[in-house]
Order: sequence, then structure tokens, then C-alpha cells
Amino acid sequence: MTTQSVVYRYPEFYALGYRWNTAVECDFIEAALNTFGLSHAKRLLDIGCGTGRHLTELARRGYAMTGIDLEPAMVEYVQAQSRADRSKITASIDDLRHLTVNGTYEAAWCLMDTFRFLLTNEEIVSHLRAVAEVLVPGGLYLTDFWVPRQLDQIGNEIHQWEQTEGDRTVRVFYLQHPETIDPVTQTFEDELVFQVLDGEQTQEIRGGSTRTRLILPQEFRALVELSGAFELVGTYGEFDLSKPLEPSSMDWRMVSVMRKRATATTPA
Ligand SMILES: C[S@@+](CC[C@H](N)C(=O)[O-])C[C@H]1O[C@@H](n2cnc3c(N)ncnc32)[C@H](O)[C@@H]1O
Repeated sequence: MTTQSVVYRYPEFYALGYRWNTAVECDFIEAALNTFGLSHAKRLLDIGCGTGRHLTELARRGYAMTGIDLEPAMVEYVQAQSRADRSKITASIDDLRHLTVNGTYEAAWCLMDTFRFLLTNEEIVSHLRAVAEVLVPGGLYLTDFWVPRQLDQIGNEIHQWEQTEGDRTVRVFYLQHPETIDPVTQTFEDELVFQVLDGEQTQEIRGGSTRTRLILPQEFRALVELSGAFELVGTYGEFDLSKPLEPSSMDWRMVSVMRKRATATTPA
């Protein structure tokens, strides 16, 4: 088992494979800012930014963007893109389990399943408190992670999609390994595999298994409460504020909007 998927060392392939929903996701971020009283927002933070698809798009829309990621190849890719676009993006290496990022932001997010790298309740609660530290009062924190549509699907899901540009196609496979489920810690191993077709040539990059956490919707609500740092103001079945999380609206993910409390509360 690796601790970090090897596919993240290939940002060019990641950027193509994962670009499909970026504009919709950025529209959602802006809609959340407008809906929850932050239409004036200027400074935004992307936690686990990957290739910076949200950073780049939102910098184009006029925001000052900061991204952090554990994988040096991802951070270098974002920095190179930012230099090429002459955009207002700062990117650095950081770990969502022990955030050290500075600054003050109106909103932050952790998208595309990255939040599930927080494996324990303690890591989740301390992460939420650390994010709240760098947000303005009333600032927003958005997360988006896999939740099972049916409980008997836990650990059994496979997702597959592909994106093409010019002669290159990147096929992405997301695989869960049910035999690795630990029912006590609610963790299991999952894996990303890239198949890259360049003209006549094909290469396969197996990311290796990484341990991730199952976080169920009611449990997430309780952990946010426990943090005392945020109130959970909305949960959605996809990147659409008009689709609250309910069985009929659910895709494979839960998208959440949290608002920083004016003063931290500690539950009795
Ligand atoms: C599935 S990608 C999501 C990237 C981006 N948020 C997106 O929506 O495309 C997960 C990212 O999280 C990063 N990552 C994994 N563990 C991390 C950690 N402990 N701290 C910070 N970043 C981490 C990986 O390097 C990778 O870039």
C-alpha cells in the first residue's frame, strides 16, 4: 500500500483526465459565495488543489487564489501554469492533516474526495478547526467526497471515465478494494489507474492502493458540530444548490457547505 497515489506524479495526465466538471464546480463555488453573503469575496483557498483546475478557472474570474497540495509534482505544475498565464495564484506544499498555510480567506474548499484522506475523527475535527483559523468570520468551507448511494455498495464501487484532447485520451479508473475494509476504523483501500492513449501508444499507470475513510452523512454532520468551528449550512447530491442531499438527488458524492461560526462553540 502506498500513502499517496502514484498517479499524482503525472499532473499532465491528471489535468486532462479530471477537467470535465471544472466550470460547473467553479459556478457552484461562486453561487455559494453569493447565497451565503460573501459576494464580495476576493481571496480563496484550495486545499488539495491537485493541478489547480479550480485555481486557474477562478483566477480567470478575478479571484486571488492560493492552493496547497502534498504532491510536489502537482504544486510545480500549478506554479508553471500560473507563470504561463501570469495569473494571481500562489501554490505551496502542505498537508491537510497538519495545515501550515498562512493568510486570510473568505472561502476555502477541499474537493474531489480529497477530504477522505483524513482517516480519523480526530484528524477531521482538528482539520476543520485549522481551516477555520484562516477564514474570516462567516467564511465558507466546501467539501465534496464520495458517499455510498446504497449501504451494500460500501467498498464495491468502480467509476470510469475518459477525456480526450488532440491525439491523447486519458482513461481514469477509480476502484475500491472491498477485502480491505476495516469496519472499526471505517477505512478501506482504493486505487486510481490511468490508461493513457497517445496516438498508437498506450501506457498504464497504477496508482497503488491508498487507505481512505468512509464518512457517512450523519457522521459528518456530527463531526462538524463537534469541531465547534463551523455550522453545516447545506448538503447537496451534486454541484447544484437546488439539489439538497437526498436519495433521489445523490450522484456518488456529498457536497457540503459549512459556514464559520462567529465564535467557536464547544459542545457540552
Ligand atoms: C483526487 S485529487 C483532487 C485534486 C483537486 N482538488 C481536484 O478537484 O482536481 C487529490 C489531491 O489531494 C492531494 N493530497 C493527498 N493527500 C494529501 C494531503 N495529506 N494533504 C494535501 N494534499 C493531499 C493529492 O496530491 C492530489 O493532488
